[in-house]
Amino acid sequence: MAPSAILLNPEDTIIENYDKNNLLVSNHGRGKSIYANTSLAPKELVKQILLERASRIDTDACDPDEENAFYVADLGEVYRQHMRWKTNLPRVKPFYAVKCNPDAEVIKLLAALGSGFDCASKTEIDQVLGLGVDPSRIIYAQPCKTKSYLRHAANVGVSQITFDNADELYKIRSCYPNAEIVLRILTDDSASLCRLSTKFGADLETAADLLRLAKELDLNVVGVSFHVGSGAADPSAFTKAVTDAKWVFDQAATNGYDLKLLDVGGGFTDETFEVFAAKLNDALVDHFPPHVRIIAEPGRYYTANAFTLATNIIARRDVSSLPSTPRSSDSYGSDISAVSTSEKSYMLYLNDGVYGNFSNIIFDHQHPIAQVLHSNRAADQDKLVEYSIWGPTCDGIDVISEHCYLLGTLDIGDWLFFENMGAYTKCSATRFNGFKDTHEAIYISSEPGASALLGY
Ligand SMILES: Cc1ncc(COP(=O)(O)O)c(C=O)c1O
Repeated sequence: MAPSAILLNPEDTIIENYDKNNLLVSNHGRGKSIYANTSLAPKELVKQILLERASRIDTDACDPDEENAFYVADLGEVYRQHMRWKTNLPRVKPFYAVKCNPDAEVIKLLAALGSGFDCASKTEIDQVLGLGVDPSRIIYAQPCKTKSYLRHAANVGVSQITFDNADELYKIRSCYPNAEIVLRILTDDSASLCRLSTKFGADLETAADLLRLAKELDLNVVGVSFHVGSGAADPSAFTKAVTDAKWVFDQAATNGYDLKLLDVGGGFTDETFEVFAAKLNDALVDHFPPHVRIIAEPGRYYTANAFTLATNIIARRDVSSLPSTPRSSDSYGSDISAVSTSEKSYMLYLNDGVYGNFSNIIFDHQHPIAQVLHSNRAADQDKLVEYSIWGPTCDGIDVISEHCYLLGTLDIGDWLFFENMGAYTKCSATRFNGFKDTHEAIYISSEPGASALLGY
């Protein structure tokens, strides 16, 4: 699909609201773009933009923070994932999990595409409502809510909310008695990257008790929700969870409830989506008649691939004299065909790390793969060189890759890039050691449909 609009050349681009103190920039595609109507594949296009932006920075002369890490976000990727969702899960309406990446352009596009939203806090609710989204398109899917946030949800009319314990039911009765409440049940999420059922979800016995209590408290239970764990690896977790949800629907009926909503949560990934969708569809056909409304809360599925991060090498240490052994976890970020290995070995220090956008290493158990974006020196370009890659803080745990091979001898001022950095990255960045927790994003669209909706 031909990219429809982008912006990167400063002469050709108007950057709105550019504020150096707040480097979160929306570079909307105004003016001519040198890549407009290009036939570059989306990934290649992203790389060109990263390269163009990085090569404009002279680290020997630039102002502080000009060389900061930055993103290129391809909203066309989000658009394609939405179309893929609709093809494979036509019965399931996505409520995008804002927590995964609350980027304003992502939310704007998904709002325009008609998606719903899973919000976890007042801020997320307000962000989505601020775009004119109707409160009925939001589920406040946090089973253990702050009381004042619950009152806020009531005030702004966000009525779909989840719960999973008796104390929450009493809280709901006092703060929001006419809410449409959704009972979150436990799942087997043992095969997922980030387990959630250790913290949330009622087992089936408790679920039955909660339905009785909800009836006693005269609360309006409308459905059941679950989450099979973020980064789920076992599609049969959906089969079991849907079967359990059906059991809870039946229990609810014996308590006088006629449930109408099933929320199948998140856990979908780009790599396994079709397999998971097929399993889920089968289970839904087996257990839930068409009049039951099905929603989901996908997060990483939508955004993981849409964001690519470029980082600058700010320091280097030659550790060639120290012994090293290749490991099974070695990553090869570049094309390794027909190359020999250098004797040299270096530690590279980047201007972003696990306290910044690489927070996904700590919180989301990811292993970002470094690739060379721009190197000022051409030394040993035909050789694989051994590196470890570190973040900029003074903490020893700030390591991005303990061991990897990249082509060529990289030096201070060179740039690396990392794909698949759109999920659970910048939203959990900190300011530890005085570094910034916001980074510039250059927004592009490799899909005309997304460009039209966003006005790019
Ligand atoms: C309640 C809830 N819904 C949805 C999600 C999104 O999950 P994923 O990104 O795996 O789709 C999460 C992630 O933590 C969550 O806690």
